Amino acid sequence: MSGQEHVAAIAADLAERIAPRRPGALVTLGSGLGPVADEVADAVEVRPADVGLPASTVPGHAGRLIAGTLAGQEVLVQRGRVHRYEGVPADDVVATVRVAAALGCTAFLVTNAAGGVRDEQSPGDLMALSDHLNLTGDTPLVGPQFIDLGGAYDAELRERARSVAAREGIALREGVYAGVRGPAYETPAEVAMLRGMGADAVGMSTVLEVIAARAAGLRVWGCSLLTNVHRPGGTPVDHAEVLAAAEQAGPSLATLLRGLLADAAG
Ligand code: HPA
Repeated sequence: MSGQEHVAAIAADLAERIAPRRPGALVTLGSGLGPVADEVADAVEVRPADVGLPASTVPGHAGRLIAGTLAGQEVLVQRGRVHRYEGVPADDVVATVRVAAALGCTAFLVTNAAGGVRDEQSPGDLMALSDHLNLTGDTPLVGPQFIDLGGAYDAELRERARSVAAREGIALREGVYAGVRGPAYETPAEVAMLRGMGADAVGMSTVLEVIAARAAGLRVWGCSLLTNVHRPGGTPVDHAEVLAAAEQAGPSLATLLRGLLADAAG
């Protein structure tokens, strides 16, 4: 089977398992946002492995696909994703995005935990993505797929998120997300380099998924939850702290996601 046939076969299997639900958006939940999945109404849950999708092995990333309704919209929620640092190829990292597109999704709402690299940031801040730097050294695209990534983060969805944030009293900044391979956190020299390159936050996911989503024609909105902030002479990054900060600020990001979906439905 070619890659495309494989994606189509998985999408057909998944469509059958979640019928009659027809998700229009893929919502990928980063660390600490898992509880959003519990809010999906009329939910049916599928384990990625059951349909031949790669599953994450990272603590805090328990893999589940949940189809149902969130804020009046039919969605496919991805709870727990596969990362490039797990030793899998880019194709595996983006498999769920491709399957969602084949299922008929037209939007990709992607969230992640990231480290801030700017002095004015604090842990718990939310940063909608205005753009990204793909520093993974990899891409999910092979062959002459010269897609435009100029407007990768949809201007209208970003505007909608700004108005939801204003309405709900949520502080939301925008910035550039640098996607790196990990799994080690960044050295101080790397953080200085990232700042110089124009990054506002750094994380180990999202960029490959967004490239695949744009190649499949999905509209993308992305948001980082800053679980830690890199400061000169600052304290080391601790994975447990990252998860704790994500859990604390998760509800605000969940409100943004619900607002974005509700506005799209209304
Ligand atoms: N660096 C990379 N990935 C991350 C970080 C970080 O500081 N925090 C959460 N994910």
